[in-house]
Amino acid sequence: MKRLEKEFAVSRTAMKKIMEAFCSEMEKGLAGKGGSLKMIPTYVEMPTGKERGRYIALDLGGTNFRVLELALKGDHKVGRPNIMKFALEKKHMSGSAELFFGFIADCVKDFLKRYKLPDDRPLDLGFTFSFPIRQTGIASGILMCWTKGFAARGVVGSDVVKLMNKALARKGIKNINISALVNDTVGTLVAKCYEKPDCDVGVIIGTGSNACYPEKLSGIKKWHGPGNRSGQMVINIEWGNFNKLAVTSYDRQLDRNSNNPGEQILEKMVSGMYLGQIAGLVLKDMGIEPDSFETMHMSEIEDDATKDLRKTRALLAKLGLPKTSIKERRLIRKVCGIISARAARISASCIAAILTRIDPDISGTHTIAIDGSVFEKHPTFANAMKEALKDIFARKAGRIKLALAKDGSGKGAAIVAAVAAKR
Ligand code: BGC
Repeated sequence: MKRLEKEFAVSRTAMKKIMEAFCSEMEKGLAGKGGSLKMIPTYVEMPTGKERGRYIALDLGGTNFRVLELALKGDHKVGRPNIMKFALEKKHMSGSAELFFGFIADCVKDFLKRYKLPDDRPLDLGFTFSFPIRQTGIASGILMCWTKGFAARGVVGSDVVKLMNKALARKGIKNINISALVNDTVGTLVAKCYEKPDCDVGVIIGTGSNACYPEKLSGIKKWHGPGNRSGQMVINIEWGNFNKLAVTSYDRQLDRNSNNPGEQILEKMVSGMYLGQIAGLVLKDMGIEPDSFETMHMSEIEDDATKDLRKTRALLAKLGLPKTSIKERRLIRKVCGIISARAARISASCIAAILTRIDPDISGTHTIAIDGSVFEKHPTFANAMKEALKDIFARKAGRIKLALAKDGSGKGAAIVAAVAAKR
């Protein structure tokens, strides 16, 4: 346990090192000089809060996806959205592009029918597609690689809006106009900023992990496109691929066995798809082998406040460990705590790096919009991130607010669609 604690610890000095390396990788990425951060210009500007109208959004990026319709009221407020949720199955995630986009188009059709949306006038749609996309415009972009276990064939290297449009046409849907293609971090940032103008970072810590922020056009050295109204553009960092982190033998093992070895190193240390897997590997090393171990199990175990860890015992029994001693349960709980604390401290360090780029002295206030199952559901994650920010910024950490941006990715896509459609 001592060895584990040491290997997984992220000290204050380590956090400062992460910040430095992150800043230098951001700079490289913005200059188009390689490095592990793609720093993708998104063509998106921050909203004014005055955007209005009804828009549709398609939010796809994990095993669940949603179609929603949202009314923007034009006064920093949005109405309650109509939402339908759908589950993607393995066969969709790893079949052909036709099957994948065809299924999504079918779900859009169901949504239009259920909410009786017209089929005789154009409907603007914001498409949240949460993978590394090289944007070629506000409503076009090419998938660079899949992440989070997705593997549908014939999509990498293609424009996902074109593929989606083709699928909609095949299903006889003629009046949907995809007016924006956005990453979930961008949606999350834009949605929160619509309501709270001091929001300047969007973060996802869910199945996958990533962040975005608005950068001055003059700071994007690789940008050769036209200027815009605000002189700023949101940059999708794709921080999941950050690789300047101290890894353990467990991280290496996980990476080797993944379907994208060498890629998404930060994501593999921070996000919900992988945290449970790391815990599983550590436990295996200790001679404890549950049938399966997922991040949500970590949340349940770390949330168990009973004296004899009764809830943990019941959960472990379900996972194929019928007889555990209190000592073993405490040990397992400790392992979970060590792994989730590392994830929270790495995420906080990267947020700190982004903030120092935006505001080197942290002289203003900053709202960080965060969504994702790990941030939302893990019992101590958000607090551990706050503590880490205090370690880094001391009393100035009081100027930084971590705000849950529930369902922001879809709402934000609708807002971006509104801006783009007006143009
Ligand atoms: C993707 C990002 C996305 C993040 C969170 C990562 O795997 O590469 O584009 O923002 O997951 O969903």
